[in-house]
Amino acid sequence: MTHHAYLKSPAADIQTAVDYLPYAEERLSKEVWQYLQSGTGQGLSSSRNRKVFEDISLMPRPLSDVKGGNTHIELFGQSFKHPIILAPLAYQRLFHPDGEIASAMASAAQGGQMAVSSLASQTLETIIEAAEQALWFQLYWQADRETTLRLVKRAINAGYSAIMFTVDAPVKQAAIALPKDISAVNLESPIALAQEVTGESIVFDGWMQQAPGWDDLMWLRDQITVPLIIKGVMHPEDAERAVSIGCDGIVVSNHGGRVLDGVPGSLQMLPEITRAISGKAKVLFDSGIRNGQDVFKALALGADAVMVGRPYIWGLSTCGALGVAHVIRLMRDELEMTMALSGAKNLQVLKSGTYIYSI
Ligand code: FNR
Repeated sequence: MTHHAYLKSPAADIQTAVDYLPYAEERLSKEVWQYLQSGTGQGLSSSRNRKVFEDISLMPRPLSDVKGGNTHIELFGQSFKHPIILAPLAYQRLFHPDGEIASAMASAAQGGQMAVSSLASQTLETIIEAAEQALWFQLYWQADRETTLRLVKRAINAGYSAIMFTVDAPVKQAAIALPKDISAVNLESPIALAQEVTGESIVFDGWMQQAPGWDDLMWLRDQITVPLIIKGVMHPEDAERAVSIGCDGIVVSNHGGRVLDGVPGSLQMLPEITRAISGKAKVLFDSGIRNGQDVFKALALGADAVMVGRPYIWGLSTCGALGVAHVIRLMRDELEMTMALSGAKNLQVLKSGTYIYSI
């Protein structure tokens, strides 16, 4: 039961994405709020994601010429006004009745991109129709190759222009009891867990039975011609292997600290992975971004673009599409201001420059 009505427009005291926190919290049930915000285990991964950002200092380079600067970027043949992509987030009708459609419309209106989750609560076709632009589709491995390929082909037929295959969460256990009218409507069968276990381990013989492996990734690469992006890579060797198989991009991500607890902050792995990939594929980053300065830091450490998860859902939970658009706009403004004060007039300069201080 929500206690507060959705706002018609963003409140005047919301100056940056985290200002949405109290507004979102008072509009969501305790369970949904917990589902959105929490990490797993002791929350080590999710708190480390933030700490790494806070510990990094910027290094301004004044007197640089920043006139005519911009945040434009091209990714996989598409042009965007800024590098802030909406991360795939499951079941968005939990947060607002307009669900994924609201997020997709907001992202399109702001000249950006969204990756729509396999666990979306509205159909892939209605979401992309509302966005009026090619979106990306996030894939979770399904029961077998045939079922997986049917889902991927459906997305491509609907106009999705890239497949983002999430590999860090083979056990897709929704940590919330879904209301009756909200489900993963695009999947053929509901996600079944711990089916019949024939061996002695519910983990190895149950859950992981259907987890994809490198051979499945190679197989998938051969099945599709659209760009393939692998989400949830933390080790540089895995990143290199994915690229050598023919993947077009990787997302350095620990899933917002929601899968394996105790891993490094996602940002810690970014420089090494960027070096390992050395321009052979696009490097995207997520986990822990809360404002435009964080976006700047990730780009300065080598990311081509970033994805944002929870913050846009705070906007969605408060005032639907307008809230999502506002969160994106705030982050973009903050990124531009940080670029201007640092002396980086565009993303190419930002990436190749020295805007991070380390001792
Ligand atoms: C997620 N994430 C996620 N990832 C994915 O590939 N498919 C999915 O369906 C989901 N679902 C999902 C639900 C919720 C409630 C959260 C918070 C996250 C992970 C998401 O794409 C992204 O990696 C993180 O959210 C990034 O971290 P921040 O920005 O939330 O700190």
